[in-house]
Amino acid sequence: MYHGKIVGTGSFLPDFIVTNDDLAKVVETSDDWIYTRTGIKERRIAKDYGVSDMAAQAAKNALDQSGVKPEEIDLIITATVSSEYSMPSVACMVQGKIGAKNAFAFDLQAACSGFVYGLDVIEQFIKTGKVKKALLIGVEKLSQVLNWEDRSTCVLFGDGAGAVIIEATKEVYGVIDVLNKSIGTDWDVLTSKIKHNDTPYYKQGEDNYLKMDGQQVFQFACKKVPEIFEELLTNNGLETIDVDLFVLHQANSRIIERVAKKMGQPIDKFYMNIEKCGNTSAATIPIALDELNGKGELSGKTVGISGFGAGLTYGAAFIQFQ
Ligand code: COA
Repeated sequence: MYHGKIVGTGSFLPDFIVTNDDLAKVVETSDDWIYTRTGIKERRIAKDYGVSDMAAQAAKNALDQSGVKPEEIDLIITATVSSEYSMPSVACMVQGKIGAKNAFAFDLQAACSGFVYGLDVIEQFIKTGKVKKALLIGVEKLSQVLNWEDRSTCVLFGDGAGAVIIEATKEVYGVIDVLNKSIGTDWDVLTSKIKHNDTPYYKQGEDNYLKMDGQQVFQFACKKVPEIFEELLTNNGLETIDVDLFVLHQANSRIIERVAKKMGQPIDKFYMNIEKCGNTSAATIPIALDELNGKGELSGKTVGISGFGAGLTYGAAFIQFQ
């Protein structure tokens, strides 16, 4: 049976950097508070780019790296929660921008778990034989949904995009397994309302700012990420020792440290780039994978990825890189 293999990665980070010291001029905060609480030093803000611009650039970089041509792509999935458009999908906009004329394209909304959810969906299409080559993108421009007067949220997030090209294969390399879960009873822990228009019959009223119970998200992530890794290891007859590298959603370095400790794993097995990017939601994992790939640090490794976020959603996958 076929399964998916990642044959190319790409990313795009806007060039405009906002440091913690820059933020301290906008809200009452400090580099020390942000860095010690989150591990973040700076983030990118997409002043001059829309969501689909960043996504298309990351996709082009992934295509270039893989050698796959745009017209070979059968399916494009974009994971995002911050598009400027309710319709069309970012995936269709990317399709137009990169010339992937033979693909069908849609967006997937699972917040910061979007990349892992997207991987699961693509795996199913590949297993049935319907899709041979797919493009999976995680992209966010969270700067446009943040309340820039709320210091408890605006310091945490950044903008950017990451992409991977996934090809059907019968080789041992590729996606070993993916598992995703959601806890809809906790939907209100992390929200951003869509801003719709007033009508002659009713008014909308509310803002669309991102709102979050930070401590609840923190507890949820520290509990559920080790649990889902454990379940996925058991399902596949693997042990933690078999995993060379962990790439977790980059929400907070303290979450990653806590997860490493709970799993009894050394922290240097857990990749972190949060210092420079902040939390780019669905984009954190593919951006990190592209950075690692660029440094040749994925070759021959078994990698565990895990996303978690609004929904609440969470998921994990193991991928064997060639
Ligand atoms: N700068 C300075 N002080 C700040 C601040 C900021 N940017 N943000 C909040 N504070 C203050 C609070 O007002 C509070 O002050 P008080 O004690 O006088 O009321 C104090 O710092 C502590 O706030 P608290 O919310 O208890 O901090 P915390 O240790 O829980 O850290 C988070 C807050 C958001 C960093 C932390 O909860 C977290 O990272 N949660 C996970 C969030 C996340 O990753 N979300 C995305 C998931 S996809």
